[in-house]
Amino acid sequence: MLGGLERLEYRGYDSAGIAVVTSDPEKLAMAKKAGKLTNLAKVLAESPLPDGTAAIGHTRWATHGGPTDSNAHPHLAAGGRIAIIHNGIIENYHSLRTELMEQGVEFQSETDTEAAGHLLASFVDKGQTLAQAMRSTALRLEGAFTLLAIDAREPHTVVGTRRNSPLVVGLGDGENFLGSDVVAFIEYTRTALELDQDEIVEITPEGVTVTTLTGAVVEREPFEVTWDASAAQKGGFATFMDKEIHDQPAAVADTLRGRLDDHGRLKLDEGTIPEALLAAVDKIIVVACGTAAYAGMVAKYAVEHWTRIPVEVELAHEFRYRDPILTARTLVVAMSQSGETMDTIMAIRHAKQQGSPVAAIVNVQGSTIAREADAVLYTRAGPEIAVASTKAFLAQISAAYLLGIYLAELRGNKFADEIASLLRDLDEMPSKIQRVLDTAEPLRDLARDMASEKTVLFLGRHVGYPVALEGALKLKELAYIHAEGFAAGELKHGPIALIEEGQPVFIVLPSPRGREVLHSKVISNIQEVRARGARTVVIAEEGDEAAAQFADHLVTVPQTPTLLMPLVTVVPLQIFAHELATAKGYDVDQPRNLAKSVTVE
Ligand code: F6R
Repeated sequence: MLGGLERLEYRGYDSAGIAVVTSDPEKLAMAKKAGKLTNLAKVLAESPLPDGTAAIGHTRWATHGGPTDSNAHPHLAAGGRIAIIHNGIIENYHSLRTELMEQGVEFQSETDTEAAGHLLASFVDKGQTLAQAMRSTALRLEGAFTLLAIDAREPHTVVGTRRNSPLVVGLGDGENFLGSDVVAFIEYTRTALELDQDEIVEITPEGVTVTTLTGAVVEREPFEVTWDASAAQKGGFATFMDKEIHDQPAAVADTLRGRLDDHGRLKLDEGTIPEALLAAVDKIIVVACGTAAYAGMVAKYAVEHWTRIPVEVELAHEFRYRDPILTARTLVVAMSQSGETMDTIMAIRHAKQQGSPVAAIVNVQGSTIAREADAVLYTRAGPEIAVASTKAFLAQISAAYLLGIYLAELRGNKFADEIASLLRDLDEMPSKIQRVLDTAEPLRDLARDMASEKTVLFLGRHVGYPVALEGALKLKELAYIHAEGFAAGELKHGPIALIEEGQPVFIVLPSPRGREVLHSKVISNIQEVRARGARTVVIAEEGDEAAAQFADHLVTVPQTPTLLMPLVTVVPLQIFAHELATAKGYDVDQPRNLAKSVTVE
């Protein structure tokens, strides 16, 4: 159980707990502890839980109630006979809590989850089985939830349900599993079953039963998880993030591999959007959050240039609330590593309600966004465990390039030889990324040297702008340093006032080849900050003579067509943030206050 929780810890790590059904029909065994999973592991090492017949475990990212021992999941009900765990937010918990307290229930925590536990127990008290009680409970709940429960009197059963939060079933041999993500059980089985909204699942060692809220039995085909168990291990690296940074050549190669059919048509992984509809699209809106939104910004530059279709990029949480203009000819593209980001899920639901087709670029198979989109192009980055996104970012950009090339081909914006040349350029990217990784050592020294800096600025133009934003985000979230990314041309409109003697400024320089004007504008921006005392770190193409003159520190990347440059220029920034955070003694895989899948709005 601890192994599964460890692989899920990226989802939340402010407390953890396990409950087990033992031979006692009146009481479950339980251990839970605030803090990271290692705290729970210490408790269990001192007083291990007895072996049992069914168990549930949880790692938490606090929403209702702080990260304390008592707010940690599982939560007990029915005098310790029933235990429940929960992801998501139960929006009507307050009224449920009042109702239950009026019936004499005493609460032990400040969580919304505990209300669901006592409600479930009240249905079991009325003679319902655990699965029936879960159904009755789900019918009373509003909001987003994945719930799992065990009852000491049903010693071989775990029941679960989901609404707007993820839950997948792992089908083993004489054992079955439930997890918010397949990584929880890929050590034991790679055969999995998706669950739809508002379904109830009951697992025993012998079987799995899925029913709807009305009790109708659901038959569903299992799918094979393509990831292997070793992909969720550190593989000799000190951190998952370092391993995932080094996975990037493979993540890009796998995402690109075998995607185009003999006619140069993109093979989507799931679903379809009719070609006639794609040919008629008059606007694309990318909806995403955080790093994935920066991948969307890169996509905008490339897709607009190749297809001449206007592309907007919108933070998913802003999109829905501003009454966006959506028609049947607007292609909405959701980008998400986890496929479970609630803001992005809500954005695509809104788009679908307005009649717009939705394509998803997602990393996790069977995730909510993948299931709800009309068509899916999977990034094949493998499991990304470190909270800060790295390889998923590169894979998202690669998938977006494929989509852009496909649309250009379909709509006749590019000749066949131009498409072939773009694809050749893309094919060379994995080895170029590998070269950046192989030459990163000086950057690690620089990061250690800058460990005590208070502010770091990042500048870029064109596709270098989202790269600058991503460099700043990585530094903020890992090293807790104030960092900001700017469009280099914007500096003179205000932010240049921040520059003083010694201020570190990273500049992402575009290729001088074929983009002389763009290149020379960024060189001017470097001079502007240098003239005011900035210490410049310039990321430039190999052989860029001008760059060397204006860089206090020069980091070179292989020569690459400008639109593809983010795949190489962001890598030094990832390594820099990783190294600097490590030098400060921080846990780079699990930065404070964050969770990998943000499954609340
Ligand atoms: C930053 C990071 C986040 C995610 C964002 C979207 O390193 O990981 O900004 O990119 O929360 O997550 P997904 O891609 O799962 O939708």
